[in-house]
Amino acid sequence: MGSGQRVAVFGAYGHTGRFVVAELVERGYVPIVSGRDAGRLRELAASYGPGPGLDVRPAPVDDPAALDRALAGAVAVINCAGPFAVTAAPVIEAALRAGIPYVDVAAEIEANLDTFAHFGERARAAKAVVIPAMAFFGGLSDLLVTAAMGDWTSADEAHIAYGLSSWHPTAGTRTAGAVSRERRDGRRVRYSGGRLEYHDDALPTLKWSFPEPMGAREVIGEFSMADVVTVPSHLTIPEVRGYMAAEAARDLAAADTPAPVAVGGGEGNGDRRSSQTFVVDVVVRAGGVERRAVARGRDIYAVSAPLAVEAVGWVLAGRTRGVGAGVLSAGAVFDSVGFLGALSAHISVELFR
Ligand SMILES: NC(=O)c1ccc[n+]([C@@H]2O[C@H](COP(=O)([O-])OP(=O)(O)OC[C@H]3O[C@@H](n4cnc5c(N)ncnc54)[C@H](OP(=O)(O)O)[C@@H]3O)[C@@H](O)[C@H]2O)c1
Repeated sequence: MGSGQRVAVFGAYGHTGRFVVAELVERGYVPIVSGRDAGRLRELAASYGPGPGLDVRPAPVDDPAALDRALAGAVAVINCAGPFAVTAAPVIEAALRAGIPYVDVAAEIEANLDTFAHFGERARAAKAVVIPAMAFFGGLSDLLVTAAMGDWTSADEAHIAYGLSSWHPTAGTRTAGAVSRERRDGRRVRYSGGRLEYHDDALPTLKWSFPEPMGAREVIGEFSMADVVTVPSHLTIPEVRGYMAAEAARDLAAADTPAPVAVGGGEGNGDRRSSQTFVVDVVVRAGGVERRAVARGRDIYAVSAPLAVEAVGWVLAGRTRGVGAGVLSAGAVFDSVGFLGALSAHISVELFR
């Protein structure tokens, strides 16, 4: 548990940032809440009432001195402010200056690639741990692929099927999608033949057999999420394919789908999760043999908080599989089965291998 250690959350008053702040408080850390709007940070802190409270330290992303003040005395930083194309580099730079681990929840393929490309060497040299996409997309899926692999070091294919009951996107999700689309000139991306491939093919509609009770569902194939970066960063798998439940993909595409709403009241210590449920069904194949990992839970935004906060706890405790430092994906840095087991209050996982 945190026992009063300070962890900075950049983008603290965003939808995901609030879940991360709540998770840190629950685990005994003192969150330093940072971001560009001082008023919204103060409001967030006030909502926690009297007590040890939150440490409010505003910082725009283009002010290195303010970022340094925000990270002073922190043992780690979690970046929840997207678009990460804008925020990741300056917050990583600040984390490197402060000599503390950096974790983000980025689901922007190009921004995730940039983090590996631009900071790999420097993070290694600085003996710093940088973990991008430590969230539902990218992090959880990578842990599941790694867990399903077991003793395999390579495989022919990995298939990651997202069975979301619905997808009410936040403003941040919509912005991330728009920024990524613009960065790839409206093209699509898939991971095939051992590399990322940009293309203009229509995405196929397929049937995926999710485990019961969900069963067979229509999915959109080649629906690439951050796992096309995180999985190949440490596993030799030439085909990494994503699939998204067709209803959820339609929700995401529709301009009028509302943002997620808390069903448990949402204020104070209430349950701020939405009613959305998820099944992530991962299948890996090697030489005609199939292994599988299935995760179930509620609310893809809410569940990103225990993923990111658990990661900070494991890095601070040195539970990093001897990989040392650098830009690392969740499955590379943590014992995937142990890590997923530690999250059993939030995610139920079954392995078939
Ligand atoms: N990998 C995953 O599974 C996963 C899970 C959850 C979230 N995410 C990603 O995390 C990001 C945030 O999502 P969300 O749901 O929390 O969205 P949100 O509620 O819209 O929050 C976005 C946050 O980012 C801040 N922000 C945006 N641009 C900024 C900038 N230039 N400088 C400083 N702060 C900035 C916003 O502050 P202002 O209000 O002041 O603009 C706000 O605090 C999105 O990119 C989303 O894709 C990924």
